[in-house]
Amino acid sequence: MTLVLLPPAVAAQADGAALYAQHCAACHQADGGGTVGLAPAIKGEHWTRLGADRGYLPMVLVHGLSGAIKLGSATFVGSMPAFGGQLDDAALAALATHVRRLQGAADAPYAADEVRAERARPGSPPQTRQRRAQILAG
Ligand code: HEC
Repeated sequence: MTLVLLPPAVAAQADGAALYAQHCAACHQADGGGTVGLAPAIKGEHWTRLGADRGYLPMVLVHGLSGAIKLGSATFVGSMPAFGGQLDDAALAALATHVRRLQGAADAPYAADEVRAERARPGSPPQTRQRRAQILAG
């Protein structure tokens, strides 16, 4: 493996689409439509609520998500790997922004600071699932 260290100015311009293709599309597909039996769609009607809670996406990316979730008639029992350990704040912000664009949302891009704030909070995959349930119930 070649390790390429980028200066901060370059890293700050993290390319969300490229990062998504590299780290996410294998499970969630290029358009975010998901893979039956493997990974849920990360767009659709339920994202009206999930996306309105701006902290939810960074929480999934930093801390992961596990435990059964239901989407319509499908249940997913896999787990979403936490990316907090392998990608920096700028990269995760770019990814969250890209996911919002796949969802058709035109809200403000995520800033690295928002990811940094999430990283500072304790969290775990089951806690993310708890938050998801709260958002959807609220
Ligand atoms: C190994 C397969 C895999 C990879 C790679 C992966 N995911 Fe996931 N992702 C999942 C699974 C499985 C779930 C559902 C977890 C569950 O059922 O608790 C999920 C859940 C999610 C959710 C929450 C969905 C919801 O309805 O709450 C988001 C957002 C998400 N992933 C985005 C991403 C992004 C962005 C990447 C790339 C950085 C990524 N995922 C990479 C498998 C994957």
